[in-house]
Amino acid sequence: MFDEKTETRDEGGADATARPCQTIVFDGVGVERDGRRALDGVSLTLSERRIGVVGLNGSGKSTLLKAIVGLAPVSVGSLTVDGRDVAREARAVRAATGLLFQNPDDQIVFPIVADDLAFGLKNHGWSRAETGERVAAALARLGVEALARRRIHELSGGEKQLVALAGLLAIEPKTLLFDEPTSQLDLRNRNRFARLLHALPEQAIVVAHDLDLLVDFERVIVLEAGRVAFDGAAAAAIAFHRERSA
Ligand SMILES: Nc1ncnc2c1ncn2[C@@H]1O[C@H](COP(=O)(O)OP(=O)(O)OP(=O)(O)O)[C@@H](O)[C@H]1O
Ligand SMILES: [Mg+2]
Repeated sequence: MFDEKTETRDEGGADATARPCQTIVFDGVGVERDGRRALDGVSLTLSERRIGVVGLNGSGKSTLLKAIVGLAPVSVGSLTVDGRDVAREARAVRAATGLLFQNPDDQIVFPIVADDLAFGLKNHGWSRAETGERVAAALARLGVEALARRRIHELSGGEKQLVALAGLLAIEPKTLLFDEPTSQLDLRNRNRFARLLHALPEQAIVVAHDLDLLVDFERVIVLEAGRVAFDGAAAAAIAFHRERSA
């Protein structure tokens, strides 16, 4: 489905056009959900271009991503993105930081694909014509331009995931947060997503059970019961996680 030719925007590899990374600082962060600590005492300074997050179901991965964009309120400690407090300056943080939700249905507001993507661009200052062009380009980049007038709720799980991804890419945030981006993709689209991710000039934080997606990442964090259990190079983190999951 992806267009192989438009997948890589740069010819000299990802580093040739790498965009500046934001610095995300968790300082003793606790997040409470329903009276339980979904994140507990998390302290991290994230400034690498490729960061992976792994962990068992319920370990706090989605909560970590949601906290970064102010969707999971911090109850203890502080969390800043490029010096902006996510609670006090949520709007500015969200303008520069986009989240691809684990469940694409959470991303959808309008019934028709193109209208929904245009809505996502509404507060970014582009004209109606520019917005239309951006939406079309983002869909084409993922090879799903034929879905533009379809009803989102009638799409397959993988098609919805691709549309949600197009919506995120259209905004061109400085930092992209991906929550299990390949969970519903077939093998071909999964492999194409992996190549797209490799070539993206933007900073990306990727939550994945698909560990192969993270092997060349600069840094991988392992969460266990809302705490950081391991933080280091991809190979060592993945080995740690595999051992703990055995
Ligand atoms: N909105 C919510 N209300 C109540 N509890 C929540 C909510 N969101 C998450 N939790 C709880 O917080 C904990 C962490 O959830 P989270 O979704 O961050 O896990 P996860 O690591 O992303 O898991 P998975 O791999 O299954 O997606 C879980 O115990 C979950 O039940
Ligand atoms: Mg999750």
